[in-house]
Amino acid sequence: MVSRVIPVNNFDLVIFGGTGDLARRKILPGLFRRFIAGQMPAESRIIGAARSDLDAAGYRKMIKDAIAEFGGPEKKDATSLKAFLAQLDYIAIDAKGDGGWRELAKLMRKNVVRAFYFSVGPSLFGDLAERLHKHKIADENSRIVVEKPFGRDLESAQALNATLAAHFSEKQIYRIDHYLGKETVQNLMAVRFGNVLFEPLWNNHYIDHIQITVAETVGVGGRGAYYDRSGAMRDMVQNHLMQLLCLTAMEPPSQFGADEVRDEKLKVIRALQPVEPHHIVRGQYDPDGDSPGYRDDVENPRSFTESFIAMRCEISNWRWAGVPFYLRTGKKLKERVSTIDVVFKDLGHSIFEGDTARHRNVLSIRLQPNEGMDLQVTIKEPGPGGMRLIDVPLDMTFAEALGDDVDQATDAYERLIMDVIRGNQTLFMRGDEVEAAWQWTDPLIEGWEARNDVPKHYEAGSAGPEDSLMLMHRDGRKWREIKG
Ligand code: BG6
Repeated sequence: MVSRVIPVNNFDLVIFGGTGDLARRKILPGLFRRFIAGQMPAESRIIGAARSDLDAAGYRKMIKDAIAEFGGPEKKDATSLKAFLAQLDYIAIDAKGDGGWRELAKLMRKNVVRAFYFSVGPSLFGDLAERLHKHKIADENSRIVVEKPFGRDLESAQALNATLAAHFSEKQIYRIDHYLGKETVQNLMAVRFGNVLFEPLWNNHYIDHIQITVAETVGVGGRGAYYDRSGAMRDMVQNHLMQLLCLTAMEPPSQFGADEVRDEKLKVIRALQPVEPHHIVRGQYDPDGDSPGYRDDVENPRSFTESFIAMRCEISNWRWAGVPFYLRTGKKLKERVSTIDVVFKDLGHSIFEGDTARHRNVLSIRLQPNEGMDLQVTIKEPGPGGMRLIDVPLDMTFAEALGDDVDQATDAYERLIMDVIRGNQTLFMRGDEVEAAWQWTDPLIEGWEARNDVPKHYEAGSAGPEDSLMLMHRDGRKWREIKG
């Protein structure tokens, strides 16, 4: 199979917060992989910008160490690493003052793509945007990249959007949701809109319900202060799960273009109904032996923040009326698994005498691990003795099906950064999309806060609180097992 990677133009990428955790863990190791893949033109430059008093040599050393710690097998390629590091530069900068900006302006080149990655807290977005303009570093062709959390409610998200809009047009703003950079998330669109097989069945005539699960085994230790102010709803549902839901539920866009795709996603969010309180289950993980519980991890013995949430959502439009979407996500669950399970309706009538079992087709799209899909189908159990039916998965694990061609190393971040350079916004969130997502989540959060809702306990290593099982049982349904 010939890979058709779209080349990128020469660029100057400035990473504000260039010495931070995200830059060292994800952005720079990812860019090094793109360099090795031949995607980073030789003239391109990555400029770290942060408060630390470093010079270019000091920064290169820092990034060399970061790649040694967080990079993949490619870090052994010393010749490439040396060449990559040579493309790095550094400016010590004061986001709130004038220090370093003139030097940065001098470094920037004409006639190359200029991109600015705001890998800093949102409180600095306005300062950076303003100074980029004041010092004429950004122009109308420049791009800025911002990270979640994009606000903590509608009001703060609107304020952030307004701050950015004061200096940049929407076409220049790339809001990252790294789930959109995941290979299989994009595959979801390929499966839906690249095959004749699924789309005719993709509606309330054939689908009983859809489950979206993002289960993690890690707890919140280490980032407790941030997490306790957010909880699973703000940290995962408002963005990642919402994106998965949108891509699963949206109407076919007229083409795979940035606004066409985002217009369709926005319509889904706007059609989401408010969720009834009894359709939401929140939980906190318990201590397990030596391993601390949620409240210990966040050092808040009275915390009511959820590390788990399950909910039953409804989309009120022609395609989905009557089809519940069950979402669930949590920390310290039994396995790290992200899946979308499309559960089709029962057969209306069985011609097989004595066959009383419920046979259902289920299309499971596995985002991680073992990226792939399987389709549960009913067949005859092999052997003599009459027509006995069994359900088996038609399994397509991409790594097996595509062999060496499957790109397992590419991280979501590096794909997305290359899209910034290419000027392709399809896999980035538009401002109105983010605001609509908060508009839907805000009343749910306000609701449980007003009710003083106390999260349920769940055992670390389990599938979440018992009540989340009940959420399904009440509807005569069952969660799919959390297994990798
Ligand atoms: C982040 C959340 O956005 O996504 C984390 O803040 C979460 O809490 C992470 O652990 C999950 O990402 P992934 O790619 O590991 O599924």
